[in-house]
Amino acid sequence: MDADELPLIADSVAFVKGLKKPTVADVLRSAQAQGLVAIQPRCGVGGHEQMRALLLALEEGARPDILSLTIDSYTRLNQFDMALSALCNAPEELNGYPLVTHGWRRGRDLNQAISVPLEVRHGSPLPRRLFETAVASGITSFEGGGISYNLPYCKDVPLVDSLNAYAEIDARCGELAQAGVVVDRELFGSLTGVLVPPSVSLAISVLEAVMAAHAGVACISIAYPQSGNMVQDVAALRAIRSLAVRYLPPSVDVYPVLHEFMGVFPKSRARAEQLIFAGALTARLGGAAKVVTKTIQEGYGIPDASANIHGMRLARVANAPFIHSIRLDESALDEEQYWIEREVDEIVGPLLEAIDLPLAISSAFEDGSLDVPFSASRHARSSVMPCRDRAGAVRYLDAGGLPFSEDVRRRNRSLLEDRWLTADDHERMQLLMADINYFLEPPGEQEFDFVPAVVESATQGSDPEETYVA
Ligand code: 5AD
Repeated sequence: MDADELPLIADSVAFVKGLKKPTVADVLRSAQAQGLVAIQPRCGVGGHEQMRALLLALEEGARPDILSLTIDSYTRLNQFDMALSALCNAPEELNGYPLVTHGWRRGRDLNQAISVPLEVRHGSPLPRRLFETAVASGITSFEGGGISYNLPYCKDVPLVDSLNAYAEIDARCGELAQAGVVVDRELFGSLTGVLVPPSVSLAISVLEAVMAAHAGVACISIAYPQSGNMVQDVAALRAIRSLAVRYLPPSVDVYPVLHEFMGVFPKSRARAEQLIFAGALTARLGGAAKVVTKTIQEGYGIPDASANIHGMRLARVANAPFIHSIRLDESALDEEQYWIEREVDEIVGPLLEAIDLPLAISSAFEDGSLDVPFSASRHARSSVMPCRDRAGAVRYLDAGGLPFSEDVRRRNRSLLEDRWLTADDHERMQLLMADINYFLEPPGEQEFDFVPAVVESATQGSDPEETYVA
């Protein structure tokens, strides 16, 4: 294991150039130019050979546009000794690929084995070593942000620490861009993955993006989580473009990305497939440059290769040329987008006037004027209470300390069903649970599978090609 001595930056730049494949930024640019959505799975296993085999299987099985190294929990927490010990004793127990422990030479080996670029997906609030190892491996996209990879994952990491760590990473991305390699930075707007109001997700991404751009990052992916209401989701993806124009320098490339539904996933194959396809369709209609896919095994744990391949293939259906002509109600979209942007403006406006933005962010979370629902961290209040409206869109039942105007508060209230407004605490808890489990089927339906295994004699002829096999 050679984790310690990293190559010089010029060596890593030469390695990326020598790969003769696009960077993640190249893939995003080309997808966006064609009006298509790049497809990317999550994937990571402990052993090196197993990881290489998995990447090759996914590439062969679904032709994704970008592949992932999903990193294990020990590495996320900088517990490299634990990762090493697991690697030596029971690599199959790791929940991802321990890149730092394997070292950058093996990272380069993975990169050379496949024809598409790689992103490191993790969840670490303090990822300096992981980032350096990723860069040395020639990996051209790195997920996370000082807020978005702290508050959903950690109990007690001060925001100033994670913001500083990401500021260093963003500055390194700036140096790399100067040296000729653009490393895309994907901001994790999915946050806790549970009923995140679009304006909370986008406000936090805008703040992280402003800091990243300031540090010299040249390519930013703003990831937004599918809420499940297509008008709301398409409007949020469209809002990313306007917010980028409003808050970021034109020299930075900004791409909207959709994360397929991050909450409690249905268990039946049929319902899971519906949600996966709806996610990909939302990404396409919203003009996302990329979708990060889910699988029919989401309700059960980390997917195997075949479920992952199936999820990507299903998502790719949304790239069909004729889908271009599907239209949602433009006036409903415009109205939704107007309010999303207005809410974001009201949240980020006062902060962007601060001289020291990281410090302002940290104190805003302390006083609740920035907030994330359901955060485990003691550095966020989580006094924002979201819920779904009649159409399933996520609204503010209680906006907590967010600095919203009376207009915004009134609109949110007006969209809620009366049952929310008249419920006592106990009833509210039940309503909230139902909203969290919105896509979970009733227990009796969980095993039900709408997909026919083989439909025999469904066609007149005997041509086996015409027989549908699920
Ligand atoms: N491989 C594939 N997917 C993973 N996820 C977490 N770890 C892995 C892994 N090693 C997925 C979960 C969930 C999302 C947050 O990340 O299944 O969908």
